[in-house]
Amino acid sequence: MNLSAFQQTCRDRVNATLSDTINALPEHSETLKQAMEYALLIGGKRMRPFLVYATGEMLSVAETDLDGPAASIEAIHAYSLIHDDLPAMDDDDLRRGHPTCHIQFDEATAILAGDALQTLAFEILCDYPITTELTVKRIELVKIVSHAAGYNGMCGGQAMDLAATDQEISQQQLEALHSKKTGALLSACVEMAIALAADITPQNKQHLMNFARTIGLAFQVQDDILDVVGDSAVLGKPQGSDQQQNKSTYPAMLGLAEAQAYLDDLHQQALQALRALPYNTQMLVSFTDFVIHRTY
Ligand code: IPE
Ligand code: IPE
Ligand code: MG
Ligand code: MG
Ligand code: MG
Repeated sequence: MNLSAFQQTCRDRVNATLSDTINALPEHSETLKQAMEYALLIGGKRMRPFLVYATGEMLSVAETDLDGPAASIEAIHAYSLIHDDLPAMDDDDLRRGHPTCHIQFDEATAILAGDALQTLAFEILCDYPITTELTVKRIELVKIVSHAAGYNGMCGGQAMDLAATDQEISQQQLEALHSKKTGALLSACVEMAIALAADITPQNKQHLMNFARTIGLAFQVQDDILDVVGDSAVLGKPQGSDQQQNKSTYPAMLGLAEAQAYLDDLHQQALQALRALPYNTQMLVSFTDFVIHRTY
């Protein structure tokens, strides 16, 4: 299967799980439910689910056992975007080509939709149909996602991002910031797939996690570059938002050409980590190329 066919399969699977999950919610708070559905299902590249499925299938995990992790991480990601766009954070009004959640609804609803999507992510991990022998793994999946989403991961990184706004920070601090705010959720995708795999050597696990950390950082470096060179209509979010707010980003720190060179370096490092693995890494190689060269 080529990259775009596999991407479509991943999108279809995760969208089906997410819409079934939303549809199953009772109707007592209709606007909140609509806001959750809006933020979850209006679009998105579904890169994190792709990483869950591609890594899991490479390690011979059944597709159905990957549906919960894929949907769970996407619910966390959608929540992180709703809160990231709020006036108190990046104050953006366009997301995935549509008004951001707080513009389409209101701020209070957007905050609650983010909160409810976060807890929904953990309900999904607790409840999704999993192969009987893997039931004991649910707690590990919950641990991986909670660690990646919270203080030690995305939330901590977002706090570092806010603290670094209008400030000069070192490249080492910027790397730590990006690795947490964006890298942590992408690493969690690979980590969940590893957790469900029947047997993987510690060394191969290490190579895969090196790959995950590198691609997680590269993802945010490319996001920073696209904020400078991208097109709002293609991005589906406002180009120039980082510059307008004087965010600490790689292009702001290194200049565009150096940031691009750094991204190329990360690209090679990610591919090198994959080459060290005794599996068919073709889909992860394609994923890496896509992340580095994407325009949205
Ligand atoms: C955007 O993530 C936010 C970052 C962490 C850089 P994506 O680029 O994956 O956004 P969607 O899900 O495709 O909209
Ligand atoms: C967001 O980083 C990372 C998150 C945790 C959501 P950005 O603020 O750069 O993401 P975009 O550019 O708004 O998608
Ligand atoms: Mg932000
Ligand atoms: Mg933002
Ligand atoms: Mg950005």
